[in-house]
Amino acid sequence: MEKEYVRSLFDKIAYRYDLLNHLLSGGVDLYWRRAAIQKLVGYQPKNILDVATGTADFALATMRLHPKQVIGVDISEQMLEIGRKKIAQRNLSESIRLQSGEAEDLNFSNDNFDAAIVAFGARNFEHLDKGLSEMNRVLRKGGMIVVLEFSRPKMFPLKQLYFFYFKNVLPFVGKLISKDSEAYQYLPDTVMKFPEGKDFLERLRSAGFSSLNEERLTFGIATIYSGVK
Ligand SMILES: C[S@@+](CC[C@H](N)C(=O)[O-])C[C@H]1O[C@@H](n2cnc3c(N)ncnc32)[C@H](O)[C@@H]1O
Repeated sequence: MEKEYVRSLFDKIAYRYDLLNHLLSGGVDLYWRRAAIQKLVGYQPKNILDVATGTADFALATMRLHPKQVIGVDISEQMLEIGRKKIAQRNLSESIRLQSGEAEDLNFSNDNFDAAIVAFGARNFEHLDKGLSEMNRVLRKGGMIVVLEFSRPKMFPLKQLYFFYFKNVLPFVGKLISKDSEAYQYLPDTVMKFPEGKDFLERLRSAGFSSLNEERLTFGIATIYSGVK
């Protein structure tokens, strides 16, 4: 999806983003982020880059790893503003810094970070492969990528329930609360099109990662992908 479109969409819904996230997922999104961060426990990363950080929930979830510095980048200034407030409220402004930035053109030198992470953001990149290879470029050798993204359950009747929820309930509730008719139509569209499972691991391999892994969560509604540079 075109970057300008995505930016203005997230700018518009930023003030309702957290509420809708927790509401539409029944709060399970917080558990998914924690499970994704758990993949990094053995690595003890000190410098972490959170791409498409939005309102910083994934960046905040890294605090249990006790990193030295976390940098979050995003194209939506309104999402970042809410993230900054949350970070300040928790007295974490020393540890987490948020700045404007595009996944496809990261403003950092090569071999910089111990971990590069992205939650529910890769789906929105204008150029997925460019974003993933940029994450690879800024990681040090041996550094780890963790991607948390929606996927699609395969089993009856969950598959049918999920498709009904995504196509009907979610756009309806999303529109009601965010007052934006497009945004929560866009979400199911991106989820339906995004590569999952082996297809996504192949994209990680092409971007330069190895030791690839996937873990499906909650009947496959979301998946954690990881790899090493
Ligand atoms: C669904 S939100 C996810 C936010 C956060 N990571 C979380 O877990 O809640 C997607 C975010 O990706 C950002 N985004 C979309 N395309 C981007 C890009 N090309 N570069 C950087 N950020 C991008 C949007 O502005 C939005 O804040």
